[in-house]
Amino acid sequence: MAHPNRLLNARILALGGTSGIGFGIASFALSQGARVIISGSKQPKVDDKVRELQSLYPNLPTESISGYACDLSDIENMEKNVKELLDKATDNGTKNLDHITHTAGDMFALPTLANLTVSSVLAGFNVRFLTGAILAKHIATGNYMDFSAKSSLTLTSGTNSHKPAPGWSIGSPWGTVVEGLVRGLAVDLKPIRVNCVAPGAIDTPMLQSFLRKASEEDAKRFRGEGNLVGDYGSVVDCAEAFGWSMRDRNVTGVTIRTDGGRILV
Ligand SMILES: NC(=O)c1ccc[n+]([C@@H]2O[C@H](COP(=O)([O-])OP(=O)(O)OC[C@H]3O[C@@H](n4cnc5c(N)ncnc54)[C@H](OP(=O)(O)O)[C@@H]3O)[C@@H](O)[C@H]2O)c1
Ligand SMILES: *[C@@H]1O[C@H](CO)[C@@H](O)[C@H](O)[C@H]1NC(C)=O
Ligand SMILES: *[C@@H]1O[C@H](CO)[C@@H](O)[C@H](O)[C@H]1NC(C)=O
Ligand SMILES: *[C@@H]1O[C@H](CO)[C@@H](O)[C@H](O)[C@H]1NC(C)=O
Repeated sequence: MAHPNRLLNARILALGGTSGIGFGIASFALSQGARVIISGSKQPKVDDKVRELQSLYPNLPTESISGYACDLSDIENMEKNVKELLDKATDNGTKNLDHITHTAGDMFALPTLANLTVSSVLAGFNVRFLTGAILAKHIATGNYMDFSAKSSLTLTSGTNSHKPAPGWSIGSPWGTVVEGLVRGLAVDLKPIRVNCVAPGAIDTPMLQSFLRKASEEDAKRFRGEGNLVGDYGSVVDCAEAFGWSMRDRNVTGVTIRTDGGRILV
């Protein structure tokens, strides 16, 4: 049998698809002939990024790429807003999604042990973890995704959840809870597959903004000294990890590391 292209014509919603890793996933999926819907917090940026993706793949029909804003930090309205996004992404439940990837994450000032507060610790769970739970609630209705091993949901944690760098006591659990959620959802949403990708340092706008504030020593650690391959990861490679989760109909409940072997250093 010739190897199938499992993303050809697949419908993929990429939360966080307006930047960094999520933009890389959207581009990867388009390169495979998928139909991609990206989301970010504000519509003007979503529209810009839709145009940028169209320009990368000028031969694809324009309906291959679209985008809708949804501010995932608005916890009061999160449930309603996520439902609205899913309604738009599926033409009101008439065109089910095959895959959802969630790489949305807000920029954070990591609370230290000296300055953490209850609210600053809790705030880090909103966009990464809570929205994953709300998404799952809507997926469980069966209105947006088929109950099939062909369907997948992929969330995001990070290497600092496995091997915290100094100062990451609070940032580490922001990702670890996502991995726990993923294992629970793999059981509760079966046969829909649910996985997590744990990236190491990946060259994105978020990493660059983090590095601008970091010490020279930290910057070196993120770049090459801290891993076995000698450089940051690129979103092109990181997108492949999400591709595995989407395409391998036998992978569920796992955390996929793409970190240049940082865990072994
Ligand atoms: N890069 C790394 O080294 C690395 C390592 C480990 C884990 N991670 C995690 O991987 C995820 C993606 O990181 P990245 O480096 O790709 O970051 P990025 O380039 O800053 O992209 C973050 C994405 O999240 C979206 N987002 C942020 N706040 C949002 C909100 N309130 N509502 C909706 N969307 C929101 C952004 O959309 P808009 O800007 O359009 O709002 C953007 O698309 C994050 O959770 C990050 O913590 C990254
Ligand atoms: C979906 O439903 C909303 C509200 O009822 C409506 O405004 C919109 O036009 C519908 N969209 C499609 C694609 O049917
Ligand atoms: C806590 O300290 C860190 C490191 O100095 C800083 O980045 C962060 O903004 C501080 N947070 C608050 C709430 O002061
Ligand atoms: C997953 O693997 C098991 C065991 O090898 C196999 O029986 C099953 O058919 C596979 N499922 C899919 C969807 O490929």
